[in-house]
Amino acid sequence: MKKLKPFLRVLTVLALIPVVQACSTDLSITSSAVGDRFQESIDGKTKPIVLPRVKDPRHFSFLWLTDMHIRPDKKDYFDKLGNFATKSHASFVITSGDITDEGTSEDYDEVVFKAKQNLPVPLYSALGNHDLYNDGWDEFKDNIGPSTAVFKFGNTMFMIIDTATCEVGADQMDWIEDKLDDVDAKHKIIFSHICLYNRTAELPIILCDPDERARLLGLLKKYEVEYFLCGHGHYAEVTKADGTTHIQGATASAWNNPLNGDPEFFNFIINGADLDYERYYFKDY
Ligand SMILES: [Fe+2]
Repeated sequence: MKKLKPFLRVLTVLALIPVVQACSTDLSITSSAVGDRFQESIDGKTKPIVLPRVKDPRHFSFLWLTDMHIRPDKKDYFDKLGNFATKSHASFVITSGDITDEGTSEDYDEVVFKAKQNLPVPLYSALGNHDLYNDGWDEFKDNIGPSTAVFKFGNTMFMIIDTATCEVGADQMDWIEDKLDDVDAKHKIIFSHICLYNRTAELPIILCDPDERARLLGLLKKYEVEYFLCGHGHYAEVTKADGTTHIQGATASAWNNPLNGDPEFFNFIINGADLDYERYYFKDY
């Protein structure tokens, strides 16, 4: 930001206005710290991630979406998601956070109830800033799972990282590097609430610390992470950089519409050495 000329600063502020309105972006409204959430997660003090059986490690699919903003007084797309998961034989559903709108116990109860009612497969999620509202971490860790996790499913590594407060923290960053260095997987995918790219400009809604952003981007390149799947901006966008495809998903909410396009979800298909995705819109189902 320091290097931006005055008129560019004005443009940057103007460009941010719709984004801030869309996500009520307050990244500091929580009493939990990223380092503490990370420690609790890797110490196993959260609901565990229980994986379904791997039928064929080289051929499977999963559904990805982000920013569902679930709350009991609003509509959702769980029924459509469940129907698609059944039809496509998806192994699981995973989101990039803001799975709840206000992080309340009522919001989390609604997620758990609707997922149980509609989804034939497990639901996993990264942590979003909205999930932390009303001290939502306690509910998230009990009802959804860890804020930081890595698992291998078939030939693919899935890593969930905690960027819900726009920071990674030294401990989590070291852990990310260790795990990427350790893992033996054909494909590597990272799920994060905050993106590393946004509309080609370096706006403050991307990961807040430039040093953390640079280190994370360096790790993606070094360890050949194929996809970095994120949300938060409510703006559908795909950026390819240094071998990684960064997808900022638009919302998957039945009431909190994206700034561009329509509420959406993605079907990722692993076919041996190939990993590809198809984009779907809830309005078509
Ligand atoms: Fe959101």
